[in-house]
Amino acid sequence: MTTTSLRPRPLILSLAGIAIAAIATVGLAQTPKPEAAKETRLERGKYLVEEVSRCQECHTPILPDGSFDKANWMKGATLVGIPAKPIEDWHQKAPDITSTSKLWTNWKYEGFVAFLQTAKNPRGHKAGPPMPAYTLKPEDAEAMAAYLKSLP
Ligand code: HEC
Repeated sequence: MTTTSLRPRPLILSLAGIAIAAIATVGLAQTPKPEAAKETRLERGKYLVEEVSRCQECHTPILPDGSFDKANWMKGATLVGIPAKPIEDWHQKAPDITSTSKLWTNWKYEGFVAFLQTAKNPRGHKAGPPMPAYTLKPEDAEAMAAYLKSLP
């Protein structure tokens, strides 16, 4: 502790401090804008789903030319690959994971968030192969579920 901090502060400095605090409070009240924050979370979710986890590789049908069927984005698909060696419980179909799917109706947002964090579905089971077992951080799981929820 320095000796200067023990001296009584001049009134003018105290008033300046109050004014700065008031301006800061008004400034905080105006930001962040709710829509901007929501958009950022959706954008993050889209990035994590499409570029990091690449859910579409299995959950979106592939057209004959090899491109993704954008009209059926994440609407479920029959997998193109088959394992070189047989794998027990191998699933050839990946389900619809858009907001209008049966899964969303049953699991809801909370169910999807929990699944992406624990790799366990609401029945307490792991999904069958080749569905990866994701154990993501809460904020990532929430952003991804928010993005999936935005898909028609
Ligand atoms: C390598 C292919 C593959 C990838 C990548 C993939 N999935 Fe899957 N997913 C599957 C298959 C196959 C199933 C069906 C498994 C089953 O029914 O047990 C499945 C099932 C699911 C289910 C239902 C699970 C259950 O217990 O009923 C959800 C939800 C899901 N996937 C979400 C996702 C999300 C979200 C991503 C990206 C973060 C993703 N998947 C990435 C192949 C994949």
